[in-house]
Amino acid sequence: MNTSQDKFDLILRGGTVYDGSGGNPLRADVGVTGDRITAIGDLSGATATEDVDVTGMAVSPGFIDVHSHDDFHVLASPDVEHNTLQGITTVVVGNCGFGVAPYDTAAARMGVLYELPPEVKPWDGYAGYLATVDQVKPSLNVAALVGHNTLRLDAMGDNQEVPPSIDQVTHMAGWVAEGMDAGAVGFSTGLVYEPGRYSTTDEIAAVATVAGGYSGVYTSHIRNEAGGLQKAIEEALVIGEMSGCSVQISHHKASGADNWGDIERSIEMIEAARDEGMNVTADQYPYVSGSTRLTAVLQNGALVNGIGGFGLVQAEDIVIATCAERPEYEGRSLASFVDEWDLVAEDAAQKIIDEGGEHVYAVVFMMDEGDVRRVMAHPSTMIGTDGIPAGSKPHPRAWGTYPRILGRYVRDEGVISLSDAIHKMSGMPADKFNLAGRGYVREGGFADLVVFDPETVIDEATYEYPKTPPIGMPHVIVNGNFVVRDGVHTHARVGRALRRGRE
Ligand code: CU
Ligand code: ZN
Repeated sequence: MNTSQDKFDLILRGGTVYDGSGGNPLRADVGVTGDRITAIGDLSGATATEDVDVTGMAVSPGFIDVHSHDDFHVLASPDVEHNTLQGITTVVVGNCGFGVAPYDTAAARMGVLYELPPEVKPWDGYAGYLATVDQVKPSLNVAALVGHNTLRLDAMGDNQEVPPSIDQVTHMAGWVAEGMDAGAVGFSTGLVYEPGRYSTTDEIAAVATVAGGYSGVYTSHIRNEAGGLQKAIEEALVIGEMSGCSVQISHHKASGADNWGDIERSIEMIEAARDEGMNVTADQYPYVSGSTRLTAVLQNGALVNGIGGFGLVQAEDIVIATCAERPEYEGRSLASFVDEWDLVAEDAAQKIIDEGGEHVYAVVFMMDEGDVRRVMAHPSTMIGTDGIPAGSKPHPRAWGTYPRILGRYVRDEGVISLSDAIHKMSGMPADKFNLAGRGYVREGGFADLVVFDPETVIDEATYEYPKTPPIGMPHVIVNGNFVVRDGVHTHARVGRALRRGRE
Protein backbone atom coordinates (compact mmCIF):
# COMPACT_ATOMS: atom_id res chain seq x y z
CA MET A 1 0.00 0.00 0.00
CA ASN A 2 2.53 2.61 -1.03
CA THR A 3 1.54 5.88 -2.49
CA SER A 4 2.54 8.26 -5.22
CA GLN A 5 1.39 11.22 -3.13
CA ASP A 6 4.33 13.08 -1.57
CA LYS A 7 2.64 15.84 0.41
CA PHE A 8 0.04 15.25 3.13
CA ASP A 9 -1.75 17.43 5.63
CA LEU A 10 -0.80 15.00 8.37
CA ILE A 11 1.42 11.96 8.70
CA LEU A 12 1.41 9.74 11.79
CA ARG A 13 4.82 8.06 11.52
CA GLY A 14 6.04 4.75 12.82
CA GLY A 15 3.00 3.54 14.75
CA THR A 16 1.45 0.10 14.89
CA VAL A 17 -1.79 0.30 12.96
CA TYR A 18 -4.85 -1.65 14.13
CA ASP A 19 -7.30 -1.21 11.31
CA GLY A 20 -10.51 -1.98 13.26
CA SER A 21 -11.21 -5.32 11.55
CA GLY A 22 -9.83 -7.43 14.40
CA GLY A 23 -6.97 -8.64 12.20
CA ASN A 24 -3.25 -8.47 12.90
CA PRO A 25 -1.68 -5.04 13.32
CA LEU A 26 0.75 -3.57 10.83
CA ARG A 27 3.75 -1.28 11.28
CA ALA A 28 2.92 1.61 8.97
CA ASP A 29 2.75 5.35 8.53
CA VAL A 30 -0.69 6.86 8.06
CA GLY A 31 -1.17 9.81 5.73
CA VAL A 32 -4.15 12.15 5.95
CA THR A 33 -5.36 14.65 3.38
CA GLY A 34 -8.34 16.82 4.29
CA ASP A 35 -10.78 14.69 6.24
CA ARG A 36 -9.64 11.38 4.75
CA ILE A 37 -6.97 8.76 5.23
CA THR A 38 -5.13 8.81 1.90
CA ALA A 39 -2.21 6.46 2.47
CA ILE A 40 -1.15 3.64 4.77
CA GLY A 41 2.36 2.26 4.36
CA ASP A 42 5.93 3.47 4.13
CA LEU A 43 5.74 7.24 3.69
CA SER A 44 9.42 7.95 4.30
CA GLY A 45 9.65 9.80 1.01
CA ALA A 46 6.69 12.05 1.76
CA THR A 47 6.30 15.25 3.72
CA ALA A 48 3.39 16.71 5.65
CA THR A 49 2.22 19.97 7.16
CA GLU A 50 1.94 18.13 10.48
CA ASP A 51 4.52 15.38 10.77
CA VAL A 52 4.02 13.46 13.99
CA ASP A 53 6.24 10.67 15.29
CA VAL A 54 4.13 8.00 16.98
CA THR A 55 6.76 5.27 17.25
CA GLY A 56 5.81 2.71 19.89
CA MET A 57 2.18 3.80 19.83
CA ALA A 58 -0.92 2.05 18.59
CA VAL A 59 -2.85 3.85 15.85
CA SER A 60 -6.48 2.79 15.73
CA PRO A 61 -9.79 3.97 14.31
CA GLY A 62 -11.58 6.49 16.51
CA PHE A 63 -13.85 4.80 19.01
CA ILE A 64 -17.58 4.72 18.35
CA ASP A 65 -19.61 4.92 21.55
CA VAL A 66 -22.72 2.98 20.57
CA HIS A 67 -24.44 3.63 23.88
CA SER A 68 -24.43 7.35 24.51
CA HIS A 69 -26.86 9.60 26.34
CA ASP A 70 -25.10 12.77 25.27
CA ASP A 71 -27.92 13.90 22.95
CA PHE A 72 -28.15 17.31 24.65
CA HIS A 73 -24.65 17.32 26.07
CA VAL A 74 -22.98 17.50 22.63
CA LEU A 75 -24.83 20.78 22.08
CA ALA A 76 -24.51 22.12 25.63
CA SER A 77 -20.75 21.37 25.96
CA PRO A 78 -19.52 20.85 22.39
CA ASP A 79 -15.97 19.91 23.45
CA VAL A 80 -17.54 16.78 24.98
CA GLU A 81 -14.31 16.28 26.91
CA HIS A 82 -15.35 13.15 28.78
CA ASN A 83 -15.74 11.45 25.41
CA THR A 84 -12.97 12.92 23.31
CA LEU A 85 -10.24 12.52 25.95
CA GLN A 86 -10.95 8.76 26.03
CA GLY A 87 -10.71 8.38 22.26
CA ILE A 88 -14.37 8.56 21.27
CA THR A 89 -14.80 10.20 17.87
CA THR A 90 -18.45 9.26 17.26
CA VAL A 91 -21.38 8.87 19.66
CA VAL A 92 -24.65 7.10 18.93
CA VAL A 93 -27.22 8.99 21.01
CA GLY A 94 -30.89 8.24 21.69
CA ASN A 95 -30.42 5.07 23.70
CA CYS A 96 -32.72 3.42 26.26
CA GLY A 97 -35.80 4.89 24.60
CA PHE A 98 -34.88 8.53 25.20
CA GLY A 99 -34.55 10.53 22.01
CA VAL A 100 -34.40 14.17 20.95
CA ALA A 101 -37.75 14.59 19.23
CA PRO A 102 -40.34 15.92 19.49
CA TYR A 103 -38.30 18.71 21.04
CA ASP A 104 -40.55 19.80 23.92
CA THR A 105 -41.10 16.27 25.16
CA ALA A 106 -37.43 15.40 24.81
CA ALA A 107 -36.23 18.57 26.50
CA ALA A 108 -38.57 18.10 29.45
CA ARG A 109 -37.34 14.59 30.00
CA MET A 110 -33.61 14.77 29.29
CA GLY A 111 -32.63 18.34 28.47
CA VAL A 112 -33.05 19.35 32.08
CA LEU A 113 -29.64 17.92 32.95
CA TYR A 114 -27.87 20.13 30.43
CA GLU A 115 -28.42 23.81 29.79
CA LEU A 116 -28.36 24.61 26.08
CA PRO A 117 -26.67 27.84 24.98
CA PRO A 118 -29.03 30.57 23.72
CA GLU A 119 -27.88 30.18 20.10
CA VAL A 120 -29.25 26.63 20.06
CA LYS A 121 -32.91 26.93 19.10
CA PRO A 122 -35.56 24.26 19.57
CA TRP A 123 -35.32 21.86 16.64
CA ASP A 124 -37.91 20.28 14.47
CA GLY A 125 -37.68 16.50 14.57
CA TYR A 126 -34.58 14.45 13.81
CA ALA A 127 -33.90 16.42 10.65
CA GLY A 128 -33.73 19.51 12.84
CA TYR A 129 -31.58 17.88 15.48
CA LEU A 130 -29.01 16.59 12.99
CA ALA A 131 -28.93 20.02 11.30
CA THR A 132 -28.36 21.60 14.73
CA VAL A 133 -25.42 19.23 15.33
CA ASP A 134 -23.94 20.32 12.00
CA GLN A 135 -24.40 23.95 13.00
CA VAL A 136 -22.96 23.67 16.51
CA LYS A 137 -20.17 21.33 15.38
CA PRO A 138 -19.22 19.50 18.54
CA SER A 139 -15.73 18.00 18.71
CA LEU A 140 -17.00 14.59 17.63
CA ASN A 141 -19.50 13.02 15.24
CA VAL A 142 -23.07 12.27 16.28
CA ALA A 143 -25.46 9.60 15.03
CA ALA A 144 -28.93 9.24 16.52
CA LEU A 145 -31.50 6.61 17.41
CA VAL A 146 -35.21 7.44 17.61
CA GLY A 147 -36.38 6.90 21.20
CA HIS A 148 -39.64 5.12 22.00
CA ASN A 149 -40.19 6.56 25.48
CA THR A 150 -40.09 10.10 24.14
CA LEU A 151 -42.55 9.28 21.36
CA ARG A 152 -44.91 7.48 23.73
CA LEU A 153 -44.91 10.42 26.13
CA ASP A 154 -45.69 12.68 23.22
CA ALA A 155 -48.44 10.46 21.83
CA MET A 156 -50.16 9.53 25.09
CA GLY A 157 -49.45 12.34 27.55
CA ASP A 158 -50.34 11.52 31.15
CA ASN A 159 -52.43 8.50 30.29
CA GLN A 160 -49.63 5.94 29.95
CA GLU A 161 -50.80 2.86 31.82
CA VAL A 162 -53.00 1.69 28.96
CA PRO A 163 -52.32 0.41 25.46
CA PRO A 164 -52.06 3.12 22.80
CA SER A 165 -54.92 3.67 20.37
CA ILE A 166 -54.37 3.07 16.66
CA ASP A 167 -54.01 6.83 16.25
CA GLN A 168 -51.38 6.95 18.94
CA VAL A 169 -49.39 4.10 17.38
CA THR A 170 -49.63 5.93 14.06
CA HIS A 171 -48.36 9.09 15.76
CA MET A 172 -45.31 7.24 17.11
CA ALA A 173 -44.71 5.50 13.78
CA GLY A 174 -44.83 8.85 12.01
CA TRP A 175 -41.99 10.18 14.16
CA VAL A 176 -39.93 7.05 13.51
CA ALA A 177 -40.41 7.63 9.77
CA GLU A 178 -39.38 11.26 10.17
CA GLY A 179 -36.27 10.17 12.06
CA MET A 180 -35.27 7.43 9.66
CA ASP A 181 -35.87 9.71 6.66
CA ALA A 182 -33.57 12.25 8.29
CA GLY A 183 -30.83 9.63 8.70
CA ALA A 184 -31.36 8.14 12.15
CA VAL A 185 -29.66 4.75 12.58
CA GLY A 186 -32.50 2.95 14.33
CA PHE A 187 -35.08 2.83 17.10
CA SER A 188 -34.50 2.35 20.82
CA THR A 189 -36.56 1.25 23.79
CA GLY A 190 -36.07 1.43 27.56
CA LEU A 191 -38.55 -1.02 29.02
CA VAL A 192 -37.77 -0.56 32.71
CA TYR A 193 -38.53 3.15 32.43
CA GLU A 194 -41.58 5.36 32.30
CA PRO A 195 -43.48 5.03 30.06
CA GLY A 196 -41.94 2.21 28.01
CA ARG A 197 -42.62 -0.23 30.84
CA TYR A 198 -46.34 -0.12 30.04
CA SER A 199 -45.88 -1.02 26.38
CA THR A 200 -46.50 -4.49 24.98
CA THR A 201 -44.35 -6.47 22.58
CA ASP A 202 -46.92 -5.90 19.82
CA GLU A 203 -46.94 -2.14 20.30
CA ILE A 204 -43.15 -1.95 20.12
CA ALA A 205 -42.96 -4.26 17.11
CA ALA A 206 -45.57 -2.18 15.28
CA VAL A 207 -43.56 1.01 15.77
CA ALA A 208 -40.17 -0.67 15.20
CA THR A 209 -41.39 -2.05 11.87
CA VAL A 210 -41.05 1.44 10.44
CA ALA A 211 -37.35 1.43 11.36
CA GLY A 212 -37.06 -2.11 9.98
CA GLY A 213 -38.21 -0.80 6.61
CA TYR A 214 -35.04 1.30 6.52
CA SER A 215 -32.84 -1.59 7.72
CA GLY A 216 -32.48 0.20 11.07
CA VAL A 217 -31.22 -1.22 14.33
CA TYR A 218 -33.55 -2.02 17.24
CA THR A 219 -31.64 -1.29 20.46
CA SER A 220 -33.23 -2.16 23.76
CA HIS A 221 -32.68 -1.65 27.43
CA ILE A 222 -34.65 -4.83 27.91
CA ARG A 223 -37.55 -5.24 30.32
CA ASN A 224 -35.65 -7.30 32.82
CA GLU A 225 -31.90 -7.80 33.37
CA ALA A 226 -32.42 -9.90 36.49
CA GLY A 227 -34.63 -12.96 37.12
CA GLY A 228 -36.51 -12.29 33.89
CA LEU A 229 -33.39 -11.90 31.74
CA GLN A 230 -34.16 -14.78 29.37
CA LYS A 231 -37.75 -13.73 28.81
CA ALA A 232 -36.62 -10.19 28.12
CA ILE A 233 -33.96 -11.29 25.62
CA GLU A 234 -36.63 -13.43 23.97
CA GLU A 235 -38.86 -10.36 23.64
CA ALA A 236 -36.07 -8.35 21.99
CA LEU A 237 -35.42 -11.17 19.51
CA VAL A 238 -39.14 -11.46 18.70
CA ILE A 239 -39.34 -7.71 18.10
CA GLY A 240 -36.34 -7.99 15.80
CA GLU A 241 -38.01 -10.74 13.87
CA MET A 242 -41.39 -9.00 13.66
CA SER A 243 -39.97 -5.60 12.73
CA GLY A 244 -37.18 -6.55 10.35
CA CYS A 245 -34.68 -4.61 12.46
CA SER A 246 -31.32 -5.98 13.51
CA VAL A 247 -31.13 -6.29 17.30
CA GLN A 248 -28.80 -4.67 19.82
CA ILE A 249 -29.10 -5.71 23.47
CA SER A 250 -28.07 -2.63 25.44
CA HIS A 251 -25.56 -3.01 28.31
CA HIS A 252 -25.81 -6.80 28.38
CA LYS A 253 -25.70 -7.95 32.02
CA ALA A 254 -27.20 -10.11 34.74
CA SER A 255 -28.31 -7.79 37.54
CA GLY A 256 -28.66 -8.69 41.23
CA ALA A 257 -26.57 -11.27 43.09
CA ASP A 258 -29.31 -13.91 42.82
CA ASN A 259 -28.94 -13.84 39.03
CA TRP A 260 -25.19 -13.76 38.60
CA GLY A 261 -24.05 -16.41 36.18
CA ASP A 262 -27.33 -16.28 34.23
CA ILE A 263 -25.35 -14.47 31.58
CA GLU A 264 -24.54 -17.93 30.25
CA ARG A 265 -28.22 -18.40 29.33
CA SER A 266 -28.56 -15.04 27.60
CA ILE A 267 -25.35 -15.65 25.68
CA GLU A 268 -26.72 -19.03 24.55
CA MET A 269 -29.89 -17.34 23.30
CA ILE A 270 -27.91 -14.73 21.40
CA GLU A 271 -25.70 -17.43 19.89
CA ALA A 272 -28.72 -19.49 18.82
CA ALA A 273 -30.29 -16.47 17.09
CA ARG A 274 -27.00 -15.64 15.37
CA ASP A 275 -26.66 -19.25 14.23
CA GLU A 276 -30.06 -18.88 12.59
CA GLY A 277 -28.73 -15.90 10.69
CA MET A 278 -30.17 -13.05 12.77
CA ASN A 279 -28.06 -9.94 13.20
CA VAL A 280 -27.97 -9.80 17.02
CA THR A 281 -25.29 -8.00 19.00
CA ALA A 282 -24.94 -6.31 22.36
CA ASP A 283 -23.00 -3.56 24.07
CA GLN A 284 -21.26 -3.26 27.40
CA TYR A 285 -19.48 -0.84 29.74
CA PRO A 286 -16.66 -2.46 31.75
CA TYR A 287 -17.81 -2.04 35.36
CA VAL A 288 -19.71 -4.09 37.96
CA SER A 289 -21.95 -1.12 38.69
CA GLY A 290 -24.53 0.59 36.52
CA SER A 291 -26.13 3.99 36.82
CA THR A 292 -29.70 4.99 36.39
CA ARG A 293 -32.58 7.06 37.71
CA LEU A 294 -33.31 6.31 41.33
CA THR A 295 -37.03 6.48 40.51
CA ALA A 296 -36.63 3.53 38.14
CA VAL A 297 -34.82 1.52 40.82
CA LEU A 298 -37.79 2.05 43.16
CA GLN A 299 -40.45 1.42 40.50
CA ASN A 300 -38.85 -1.94 39.76
CA GLY A 301 -38.97 -3.02 43.39
CA ALA A 302 -35.19 -3.38 43.58
CA LEU A 303 -35.12 -2.59 47.31
CA VAL A 304 -38.17 -4.68 48.17
CA ASN A 305 -38.78 -7.85 46.21
CA GLY A 306 -36.34 -7.78 43.28
CA ILE A 307 -38.89 -9.09 40.80
CA GLY A 308 -38.43 -6.07 38.53
CA GLY A 309 -35.79 -5.36 35.93
CA PHE A 310 -32.89 -4.69 38.31
CA GLY A 311 -33.24 -7.70 40.65
CA LEU A 312 -32.70 -7.18 44.37
CA VAL A 313 -30.09 -4.66 45.49
CA GLN A 314 -29.07 -3.49 48.98
CA ALA A 315 -28.98 0.05 50.30
CA GLU A 316 -25.18 -0.11 50.58
CA ASP A 317 -24.99 -0.93 46.86
CA ILE A 318 -26.59 2.38 45.86
CA VAL A 319 -24.64 5.66 45.77
CA ILE A 320 -26.22 9.00 44.85
CA ALA A 321 -24.57 10.33 41.67
CA THR A 322 -26.62 13.35 40.60
CA CYS A 323 -29.05 15.24 42.83
CA ALA A 324 -29.64 18.75 41.52
CA GLU A 325 -31.56 20.21 44.48
CA ARG A 326 -29.41 18.54 47.13
CA PRO A 327 -25.90 18.33 45.70
CA GLU A 328 -24.56 17.56 49.18
CA TYR A 329 -26.19 14.14 48.86
CA GLU A 330 -24.02 13.24 45.89
CA GLY A 331 -21.41 10.60 46.68
CA ARG A 332 -23.30 9.25 49.72
CA SER A 333 -24.63 5.71 49.90
CA LEU A 334 -28.30 5.05 50.40
CA ALA A 335 -27.31 3.07 53.50
CA SER A 336 -25.96 6.25 55.09
CA PHE A 337 -29.37 7.90 54.69
CA VAL A 338 -31.09 4.83 56.10
CA ASP A 339 -28.97 5.23 59.23
CA GLU A 340 -29.28 8.99 59.46
CA TRP A 341 -33.03 9.15 58.93
CA ASP A 342 -33.90 5.84 60.54
CA LEU A 343 -36.05 4.84 57.58
CA VAL A 344 -36.26 1.63 55.58
CA ALA A 345 -34.27 1.78 52.36
CA GLU A 346 -37.25 2.35 50.09
CA ASP A 347 -38.54 5.27 52.16
CA ALA A 348 -35.10 6.82 52.40
CA ALA A 349 -34.73 6.62 48.61
CA GLN A 350 -38.16 8.21 48.14
CA LYS A 351 -37.21 11.04 50.51
CA ILE A 352 -34.06 11.70 48.46
CA ILE A 353 -36.18 11.89 45.31
CA ASP A 354 -38.75 14.15 47.00
CA GLU A 355 -36.03 16.54 48.13
CA GLY A 356 -33.66 16.18 45.21
CA GLY A 357 -36.00 16.63 42.28
CA GLU A 358 -37.20 14.15 39.72
CA HIS A 359 -33.83 13.63 38.07
CA VAL A 360 -31.89 11.91 40.82
CA TYR A 361 -29.38 9.45 39.39
CA ALA A 362 -27.57 6.74 41.32
CA VAL A 363 -24.66 4.39 40.83
CA VAL A 364 -25.87 0.87 41.55
CA PHE A 365 -23.53 -2.06 42.22
CA MET A 366 -25.41 -4.98 40.70
CA MET A 367 -23.07 -7.09 38.54
CA ASP A 368 -20.53 -9.86 38.90
CA GLU A 369 -16.96 -9.36 37.66
CA GLY A 370 -16.93 -12.84 36.09
CA ASP A 371 -20.07 -12.01 34.12
CA VAL A 372 -18.54 -8.74 32.96
CA ARG A 373 -15.52 -10.60 31.58
CA ARG A 374 -17.64 -13.31 29.97
CA VAL A 375 -19.76 -10.73 28.15
CA MET A 376 -16.71 -8.71 27.09
CA ALA A 377 -14.99 -11.74 25.59
CA HIS A 378 -18.05 -12.81 23.60
CA PRO A 379 -18.00 -12.02 19.86
CA SER A 380 -21.50 -10.48 20.02
CA THR A 381 -20.35 -7.69 22.33
CA MET A 382 -19.24 -4.21 21.33
CA ILE A 383 -18.45 -1.30 23.64
CA GLY A 384 -20.51 1.69 24.75
CA THR A 385 -20.22 3.98 27.76
CA ASP A 386 -23.86 4.59 28.82
CA GLY A 387 -22.32 7.70 30.38
CA ILE A 388 -24.44 10.34 32.09
CA PRO A 389 -21.91 13.06 32.94
CA ALA A 390 -24.11 15.17 35.24
CA GLY A 391 -23.78 16.07 38.91
CA SER A 392 -20.58 15.78 40.96
CA LYS A 393 -20.35 11.99 41.33
CA PRO A 394 -21.52 10.47 38.05
CA HIS A 395 -20.53 6.95 37.09
CA PRO A 396 -16.83 6.91 36.06
CA ARG A 397 -17.74 5.06 32.85
CA ALA A 398 -18.39 8.45 31.20
CA TRP A 399 -14.63 9.20 31.42
CA GLY A 400 -13.01 5.79 31.65
CA THR A 401 -14.71 3.08 29.60
CA TYR A 402 -12.34 2.74 26.63
CA PRO A 403 -8.96 3.16 28.37
CA ARG A 404 -10.17 0.85 31.14
CA ILE A 405 -10.74 -1.93 28.63
CA LEU A 406 -7.43 -1.27 26.83
CA GLY A 407 -5.42 -1.08 30.05
CA ARG A 408 -7.08 -3.30 32.58
CA TYR A 409 -8.89 -5.94 30.53
CA VAL A 410 -6.53 -6.20 27.55
CA ARG A 411 -3.03 -5.50 28.93
CA ASP A 412 -3.26 -6.38 32.60
CA GLU A 413 -5.73 -9.26 32.59
CA GLY A 414 -5.73 -10.60 29.05
CA VAL A 415 -9.52 -10.98 28.87
CA ILE A 416 -9.48 -10.04 25.17
CA SER A 417 -6.73 -9.23 22.68
CA LEU A 418 -5.92 -5.65 21.76
CA SER A 419 -6.99 -6.25 18.18
CA ASP A 420 -10.37 -7.66 19.30
CA ALA A 421 -10.93 -4.84 21.74
CA ILE A 422 -10.32 -2.23 19.05
CA HIS A 423 -12.66 -4.08 16.67
CA LYS A 424 -15.41 -3.96 19.34
CA MET A 425 -14.81 -0.19 19.68
CA SER A 426 -14.67 0.76 15.99
CA GLY A 427 -15.24 -1.51 12.98
CA MET A 428 -17.92 -3.63 14.61
CA PRO A 429 -20.11 -0.70 15.69
CA ALA A 430 -19.59 1.11 12.36
CA ASP A 431 -20.88 -1.96 10.49
CA LYS A 432 -23.79 -2.52 12.88
CA PHE A 433 -25.03 1.08 12.81
CA ASN A 434 -24.28 1.59 9.13
CA LEU A 435 -21.86 4.48 9.61
CA ALA A 436 -20.37 4.78 6.14
CA GLY A 437 -16.64 5.48 5.88
CA ARG A 438 -16.13 5.20 9.66
CA GLY A 439 -14.72 2.60 12.01
CA TYR A 440 -11.64 1.49 10.07
CA VAL A 441 -8.18 2.72 9.24
CA ARG A 442 -8.51 2.42 5.49
CA GLU A 443 -7.42 4.45 2.52
CA GLY A 444 -10.38 6.57 1.46
CA GLY A 445 -12.04 6.33 4.87
CA PHE A 446 -12.57 9.26 7.19
CA ALA A 447 -9.59 10.20 9.32
CA ASP A 448 -11.10 9.50 12.75
CA LEU A 449 -8.08 8.17 14.64
CA VAL A 450 -6.77 7.49 18.12
CA VAL A 451 -3.11 7.22 19.08
CA PHE A 452 -2.42 5.52 22.42
CA ASP A 453 0.37 3.73 24.22
CA PRO A 454 -0.67 0.10 24.81
CA GLU A 455 1.91 -0.11 27.63
CA THR A 456 0.54 2.76 29.70
CA VAL A 457 -3.05 3.51 28.64
CA ILE A 458 -5.43 3.31 31.62
CA ASP A 459 -8.55 4.94 33.04
CA GLU A 460 -8.06 7.25 36.00
CA ALA A 461 -11.72 7.97 36.70
CA THR A 462 -12.86 6.47 40.00
CA TYR A 463 -16.12 6.51 41.91
CA GLU A 464 -14.62 9.14 44.18
CA TYR A 465 -13.09 11.24 41.38
CA PRO A 466 -15.15 10.27 38.33
CA LYS A 467 -14.29 13.28 36.17
CA THR A 468 -10.66 12.32 35.67
CA PRO A 469 -9.39 11.80 32.13
CA PRO A 470 -7.34 8.73 31.25
CA ILE A 471 -3.59 8.61 30.64
CA GLY A 472 -1.60 7.10 27.80
CA MET A 473 -3.82 8.38 25.00
CA PRO A 474 -2.06 11.41 23.53
CA HIS A 475 -3.84 12.05 20.24
CA VAL A 476 -7.42 11.94 19.04
CA ILE A 477 -8.23 13.01 15.49
CA VAL A 478 -11.72 13.69 14.11
CA ASN A 479 -12.29 14.23 10.39
CA GLY A 480 -8.56 14.84 9.91
CA ASN A 481 -8.15 17.37 12.75
CA PHE A 482 -6.56 17.02 16.17
CA VAL A 483 -9.25 17.26 18.81
CA VAL A 484 -6.85 16.04 21.47
CA ARG A 485 -3.14 16.63 21.02
CA ASP A 486 -0.50 15.50 23.51
CA GLY A 487 -3.32 14.71 25.91
CA VAL A 488 -4.82 18.20 25.76
CA HIS A 489 -8.14 19.14 24.17
CA THR A 490 -7.54 21.54 21.27
CA HIS A 491 -11.13 22.87 21.29
CA ALA A 492 -11.32 22.06 17.58
CA ARG A 493 -14.98 21.78 16.62
CA VAL A 494 -14.87 19.49 13.66
CA GLY A 495 -17.56 16.86 14.31
CA ARG A 496 -20.51 16.20 12.05
CA ALA A 497 -23.97 14.72 12.16
CA LEU A 498 -23.80 11.22 10.70
CA ARG A 499 -26.74 10.03 8.65
CA ARG A 500 -27.34 6.32 8.20
CA GLY A 501 -25.36 4.87 5.31
CA ARG A 502 -24.29 8.26 4.01
CA GLU A 503 -20.72 9.56 3.95
CU1 CU B 1 -28.62 3.74 28.54
ZN1 ZN C 1 -30.20 1.61 29.74
